[in-house]
Amino acid sequence: MTRAMNRLTLSEQFFRDQALAHASGGMSTVLNRFSLVGRMLASEIMRAGFVGKLGYTGTTNVQDEDVRALDVISNDTVLQVFDSMPLVCGIASEEMEGVHYPSGSEEGKYLIACDPLDGSGNVDVAGQIGTIFGVYRRRSASGKPPLDDFLQPARNLIAAGYILYGPCTMLVYTAGGPVNGFTLDRSIGTFFLTHPNIRIPEGTGSYSVNEANEKKWDAKTQAMVRAFRQQETDCGKRAARYAGALVGDFHRTLLKGGIYMYPGEVKKPSGKLRLLYENGPLGFICEKAGGAASDGTQPILDIVPNELHQRTPLFLGSKGDVAEAVRRLS
Ligand code: F6P
Ligand code: MN
Repeated sequence: MTRAMNRLTLSEQFFRDQALAHASGGMSTVLNRFSLVGRMLASEIMRAGFVGKLGYTGTTNVQDEDVRALDVISNDTVLQVFDSMPLVCGIASEEMEGVHYPSGSEEGKYLIACDPLDGSGNVDVAGQIGTIFGVYRRRSASGKPPLDDFLQPARNLIAAGYILYGPCTMLVYTAGGPVNGFTLDRSIGTFFLTHPNIRIPEGTGSYSVNEANEKKWDAKTQAMVRAFRQQETDCGKRAARYAGALVGDFHRTLLKGGIYMYPGEVKKPSGKLRLLYENGPLGFICEKAGGAASDGTQPILDIVPNELHQRTPLFLGSKGDVAEAVRRLS
């Protein structure tokens, strides 16, 4: 049996990050709580099929998407894990129209933006799904944070991460320094550092985009995606891969290189994905790993949101591929 004993645990890595940044323990407490979210949801997802938790609830969310039972469970899990946590004064989530204020947290200094269950279309087919989170420092001094506190560009994130529920459960995060990846040893409920200092490769990997949307794109977008499909990009050959879950597609892109795209459409120029809890946190991770994130005209990290559920197009991955996509779109 391969032992994980010689690897750092997630908590030990948080401790190191904190010491290096001369930071207080608050941030590692927040990240530790996300590891709890990961362990709880990994267990829920594994059992969902035999305890009747697959399928839809029959309702739609604020984005007009059909809500699945696991969407609700995941959102409730995040809220419960951060309830009575005085450090976190507000939570914005894909599943909630407005901000949730954990009880007794008026003095808390952190804000969380979260997609509790990304790629939920994969739930019923045992495909990859994920959780995405970003942590901001509040701008107001105390009390309930105003909406404006959330409307910060992703460059202001102090930590961002995602949890991937696939054949194994992984948590990948950065607190502004290196991007580190941890794998859950389910038998003892501990995340171990398995992917230290992830750097996204250049000149290799795949392209990920839902090509069934081709007719909805403008001519430049169609030509740009065609260049990737026909392997005519300056960045070299690219295989097509699309899991239908942003976290799964991004994780592969981060480790193997390439590009993930969700372009704008003629009738929906902002595309589908949300800035605050999808594009921003993953863009931050990607840049810290040496990659790039753009909406086609500007870096994702520079966009100041106007509202909680704002959408932007997304081009995310190896620097060369993202630069080429942007060049072909301009
Ligand atoms: O959260 C939105 C999402 O489920 C992403 O995880 C995924 O990449 C995308 O939508 C898939 O969208 P589509 O089905 O339009 O390709
Ligand atoms: Mn999502």
